[in-house]
Amino acid sequence: MPDHLTVVRHPLVQHKLTLMRDKNTASAGFRRLLREISHLLAYEVTRDLKVATTTIETPLQEMESPILAGKKLALISILRAGNGLLEGILDLIPSARVGFVGLYRDEETLQPVQYYFKVPEGLNDRVVIVVDPMLATGNSSVAAIDLLKKAGATNIRFLCLLAAPDGVDRMREAHPDVPVVTAAVDEKLNDHGYIVPGLGDAGDRMFGTK
Ligand code: URA
Repeated sequence: MPDHLTVVRHPLVQHKLTLMRDKNTASAGFRRLLREISHLLAYEVTRDLKVATTTIETPLQEMESPILAGKKLALISILRAGNGLLEGILDLIPSARVGFVGLYRDEETLQPVQYYFKVPEGLNDRVVIVVDPMLATGNSSVAAIDLLKKAGATNIRFLCLLAAPDGVDRMREAHPDVPVVTAAVDEKLNDHGYIVPGLGDAGDRMFGTK
């Protein structure tokens, strides 16, 4: 995956994102849309996965047919909002290994604080897809990827729904080897580190908390 940033402009992605941004979309609809959109984003973030061939028999004859190569992928969800994207990607890649990084954002410093880290073994041999819907300041994402690299990951990509220009820049500086796939790059961050126009707090929108 050569480009550092891929914005998925597919009409279905953009349509669903608009519905998600709308403040009148309630949690149940928001979660459903997030799951649907994650299928489409997963398609893009896995576009360059390596395939091998295997021999199978169709009802008509034997054939050589493509199959994903290498060890099972690792999907890493940055809690808690990452879980919304995770579910949809697991629909498509059910055999993936799953890990969780728990980071919350200190609302004053906007810096990430780690409270949980549990990832699959053998990260160094796996394609690792890190998921978090919002790439805002980039602080949590950069910190999560720092931890994953320390745990051995070398082939990482980052999937989000919305990004702010600051977050994209921060990721590019800190982890130029990690491609970012998103549905949109919004205008800016506000003083509280929220993406504008954005969609609000993704975790709150998903789970109906405030
Ligand atoms: N996290 C969110 O959920 N929303 C933002 O706009 C920024 C960070």
